[in-house]
Amino acid sequence: MGTSGKVIKCKAAVAWEVDKPLSIEEVEVAPPKAHEVRVKIVATGICGTDDHVLKGSIPNIDYPIIPGHEGAGIVESIGEGVTCVKPGDKVIPLCLPQCGECSFCLNPDTNCCLKTHLHESQNLMPDKTSRFTCKGKAIHHFLWISTFSEYTVMPDSAIARIDDDAPLDKVCLFGCGFSTGYGAAINTAKVKPGSTCAIFGLGGVGLSVVVGCKSAGASRIIGIDINKDKFTKARELGATECINPQDFKKPIQEVLLEMTGHGVDYSFEVVGHTDTMVAALVSCHMGSGTCVLVGTPPLGSQLSFDPLLLFTGRTWKGCLIGGWKTKDSIPKLVSGYMEKKFNPDVLITHTLPFDKINEGFELLQSGKSIRTVLVF
Ligand code: APR
Ligand code: ZN
Ligand code: ZN
Repeated sequence: MGTSGKVIKCKAAVAWEVDKPLSIEEVEVAPPKAHEVRVKIVATGICGTDDHVLKGSIPNIDYPIIPGHEGAGIVESIGEGVTCVKPGDKVIPLCLPQCGECSFCLNPDTNCCLKTHLHESQNLMPDKTSRFTCKGKAIHHFLWISTFSEYTVMPDSAIARIDDDAPLDKVCLFGCGFSTGYGAAINTAKVKPGSTCAIFGLGGVGLSVVVGCKSAGASRIIGIDINKDKFTKARELGATECINPQDFKKPIQEVLLEMTGHGVDYSFEVVGHTDTMVAALVSCHMGSGTCVLVGTPPLGSQLSFDPLLLFTGRTWKGCLIGGWKTKDSIPKLVSGYMEKKFNPDVLITHTLPFDKINEGFELLQSGKSIRTVLVF
């Protein structure tokens, strides 16, 4: 391709500092180094975690930064030694990589690859340099993939080739939201047929948990949200009951215990607040109830809870990207979508041109959207 080996100038959304809207800038994107891939992003979703980046509420973020981690695109060029993709391939950048070689990648019970951005406080490529510059200044990467840039560079462990026919403006949701929620139910909780589930938070990720619980055969799926506008879609996707904590005088965990007798079999926290994390744990039943933390914990937060809750047999666990080994699984999820096994399209409430990114964030913050997809 004509651009291979050259710096590309393109549009990107930069967060220069905390609590400021993103600014659309012209950035320079350096060519990929060895074991890196440069991708032309075609579409990217806006996830709750990107909003946390703008608000400065997640750990290990350095500014200025280009956020975005739910994208889909086409390989523009590859660095030396890259064998998993070639220019022209349709791909999904992986916000959790899978190197395939480390002891965790070789362990079937975890998807937390050891060669990730998770282990150190840095927002740079693995060689600790940036591929982005803007106005003469190096800009940080986010989760090694920064999908809010028309072109972006990622390590070859953080990219998965997908079906050539996949519609990129839809399957971008497999990069985070859908895979995270669906996998939390299927892989992490391992929801059993006939069970009762409670989902705290009915945003794009929480609704994907609803889809996972339904496909696992749960017979009772209770959606919980402080925004009742989320209930219609939740019911459409399989929630059998929806409740708003603000409609009750007593704490929501007590309401759930009354509704179910002893508590639910599985509860999922998909908000990212410490109070709902503890409420979700209390809501599952003694003996064998399982609570899964899906929402991103706030920066520096600590939990306080009665250890008797665990002593009496509840299981409390969490997962990243729904527990999927990303490079292996995301292409399979996309194939499942192509075969109409599930349909995350219903989560996309808005599609906007990339320049309207701040409008997309306003829609998320005001609770008016589930997922906004931005197209370049
Ligand atoms: N109880 C119940 N629901 C709540 C509460 C609460 N106390 N507070 C907020 N909510 C609801 C919001 O009304 C919203 O519908 O939680 C939902 C959160 O959804 P989004 O903001 O759309 O976020 P989403 O993209 O679904 O991600 C959810 O998972 O990946 C993480 O970082 C992400 O922490 C975030 C979470
Ligand atoms: Zn690994
Ligand atoms: Zn996300």
